[in-house]
Amino acid sequence: MIDDIRRIAAAATDRIAGAATLDELGALDRELLGKTSELSGFKRQMGGLDHEAKREVGGALNAAREAMAAAVAARRAELDAIARRAQAEAERLDLTEVRAGRDAGHLHLVTQTIEELEDVFVGLGFTVAEGPEVEDDWHNFTALNFGRYHPARDMQDTFFVDLGAEREVVMRTHTSPVQIRVMEGQAPPIYSIMPGRVYRNEATDSTHLAVFHQLECLVIDRGITFGHLAGTIDMFTKAYFGPGWNMRLRPAYFPFTEPSAEFDLQRPDGSWLELGGCGMVHPNVLRNCGIDPEEFSGFAFGFGLDRLAATKHGVTDLRELASTDIRFLEQF
Ligand code: PHE
Repeated sequence: MIDDIRRIAAAATDRIAGAATLDELGALDRELLGKTSELSGFKRQMGGLDHEAKREVGGALNAAREAMAAAVAARRAELDAIARRAQAEAERLDLTEVRAGRDAGHLHLVTQTIEELEDVFVGLGFTVAEGPEVEDDWHNFTALNFGRYHPARDMQDTFFVDLGAEREVVMRTHTSPVQIRVMEGQAPPIYSIMPGRVYRNEATDSTHLAVFHQLECLVIDRGITFGHLAGTIDMFTKAYFGPGWNMRLRPAYFPFTEPSAEFDLQRPDGSWLELGGCGMVHPNVLRNCGIDPEEFSGFAFGFGLDRLAATKHGVTDLRELASTDIRFLEQF
């Protein structure tokens, strides 16, 4: 009897070790260790044995049950680990992975837009300039003909940086300070564009961001007129959006241009989009940069890049451009 028990236990542990799935293991557990198992049958036969034999058979039965239960537990742990590995593999998301035949990521829509516009203007002989995002009062305001107490300073809700004298350092509120830096650094003729990030201390909504992008254009040369300004805006609009888009100018006020205008773009469906400001560079601004307004004149314009890109690509909430949601970003 004891030999039979040992033989059954050995065969059973082999079958347990070979169980391929957790379901199969559960079925084996019930078959080999449950109430109707072969081992349970031996228990019933023990009634007819003498005391000594009962003790030996009982011991063998317990040893067999323990060995089989241990084999079930060991196999269950193995199968659990395999299942966990398979699940981890299935859910793996490697953000650095390059999959064959699939794009490994791309530039943000705003960056693509900057590059597209740079191509348009560089093709016309313009250069691209950059300036710092943390500016001093001179470049962001004073040199642009905003007097110390000029009310137009309030037009731009400014983030001040707590550094040096009070209200002396700002997060630039527009890209116009780069005009000053370009004119300070080089004599005319100047044909430059200046894309970059700007900051306004205001609440965000679907059409306003506190951190956004502008593109500034500056031309200084002999004999530059308002006609050149209007023609340049019209040209880049059509180059970016295609034919069918038009623009209009509305009188406006900026301290650094005179005369000044705001410009709107007209979509092919006839509706209007307010885009930016422009004008002839104010003589005071030229003088502030050491350029003689009797000899040179020029124009400047600046507009919101995020709004331009959103219009072209049908983005209805500008805040999406500042999000990191892959599902949004992947579309462009
Ligand atoms: N800097 C102005 C703004 O942000 C726009 C502008 C640029 C106006 C150049 C005139 C000339 O509102």
